[in-house]
Amino acid sequence: MKILVTGAAGFIGAALVEALARRADVESIIAVDQSEPPAPHAKVEAVTGNLAYAPMARSVVDAGIDAIFHLASLVSGGAEQNFELGMKVNFDATRDLLEAARLAGRCPKFVFTSSIAVYRGANLEVTDDTRPAPRLSYGAQKLMCEVMIDDYSRRNFVDGRCLRLPTVLVRPGAANTAVSGWSSAIIREPLAGRDYTCPVNPLTRMACVSVTRVVESLIHASQVPAADFGSDRTLVMTGIPVSAQAMLDAVRKAAGRGSQIGKVRFEPDPAAQALMDLVAKSTFSARAARLGFKHSASIEEIIAEYIEERSS
Ligand SMILES: NC(=O)c1ccc[n+]([C@@H]2O[C@H](COP(=O)([O-])OP(=O)(O)OC[C@H]3O[C@@H](n4cnc5c(N)ncnc54)[C@H](O)[C@@H]3O)[C@@H](O)[C@H]2O)c1
Repeated sequence: MKILVTGAAGFIGAALVEALARRADVESIIAVDQSEPPAPHAKVEAVTGNLAYAPMARSVVDAGIDAIFHLASLVSGGAEQNFELGMKVNFDATRDLLEAARLAGRCPKFVFTSSIAVYRGANLEVTDDTRPAPRLSYGAQKLMCEVMIDDYSRRNFVDGRCLRLPTVLVRPGAANTAVSGWSSAIIREPLAGRDYTCPVNPLTRMACVSVTRVVESLIHASQVPAADFGSDRTLVMTGIPVSAQAMLDAVRKAAGRGSQIGKVRFEPDPAAQALMDLVAKSTFSARAARLGFKHSASIEEIIAEYIEERSS
C-alpha cells in the first residue's frame, strides 16, 4: 500500500507514521506537514508544505495512493482565535484533498480525525445517539468535513471513515492550541520533575484515550470493510471519563512512593473552566465496539503506556 499522512509532524501523526512504517503491507508513506515531519524509516518520504495553499493537495495525491490519513488541523483554541485560518486548514484543505482524490480516480480509503468537539453541553455523556451541536468553529468545521466525506463516499470518490476522537493522552512535547492541553500537561510535567499550574478545578472530567489506542484505531478504521460502515462513515470513539484529580493521583501512583515529581497546583482560570465545563465528560460507542475498535481501560493504563514509550 502507498499511503499519505497529513499532520505527520503532529502528536498523533508522528506516532501513526511510525506504526504504519513498521507494517509489512505498507510499501511507502508520504508524510506531509507544514513543519518538517520526522522520517523514521526508509519507507517514509517527508514533505514539508502548507495545506492551506490549495495546490498542495494535488501535489501529494495521485492515482497511486491507496489510503489517505488526514490529520492536519488547526485545533480548537487556534481555530476559535483565527476563524479564517481555521476554515482554510480544517475545511478547505479537507475539501482540496477530497477533490484531489476524486480527480485521481482511484477511490482511496480516506481516514479523517474528527473530534468530540462536534458535541457541546453541560455534563454531557455522549453515546452513538447523541446529536452533534458544535459551539466552537473547530467542531463545526469537523462536522462539515464529516458530511462532505459521507457524500464523497456515497459517490465512490473516496472510501471515507471519520473517527470522532476524545482527548488523546499524553502529548509529549510543547502544547498546541488545544483547549484541553492541561490534561496532558498534568501528567507530563510532574513526571518530568517540573511543577505545573493546572487552569481547571480538580473535579473537571474529560473523555480520554491513549495515543496508542488512537493509532491502532486509525489503522483499524482503514481496514474495516466499507459495508460494515454503511452509509454513515462517522464513528465516535469511546473515551473513559477521568478527572484532573484522578490524573494526578494516577501520576503519583505510577511514579511510586518517595519519587521526586513536580508539584501541581490548581488555579482555575474562569475562561478555561467555562470551556471545559461544556466538553463531553465521557463517550461510549457500542457501534465502535461492534466494529472491533478498542478503547483505553483506565488512566493507569494510559500513563503506563506513556512511561513505557518515553523510556523506549
Ligand atoms: N489530540 C487530541 O486530543 C485530539 C482530539 C480530537 C481530535 N484530534 C484531531 O486529531 C488530529 C491530530 O491531532 P494532534 O493532537 O496530533 O494535533 P497536532 O497539533 O499535534 O498536529 C496537527 C499537525 O497538523 C499540522 N498542520 C496544521 N496546519 C497545517 C497546514 N496548513 N498544512 C500542513 N500541516 C498543517 C501541524 O503542523 C501539526 O503538526 C487533528 O485533526 C485533531 O483535530 C485530536
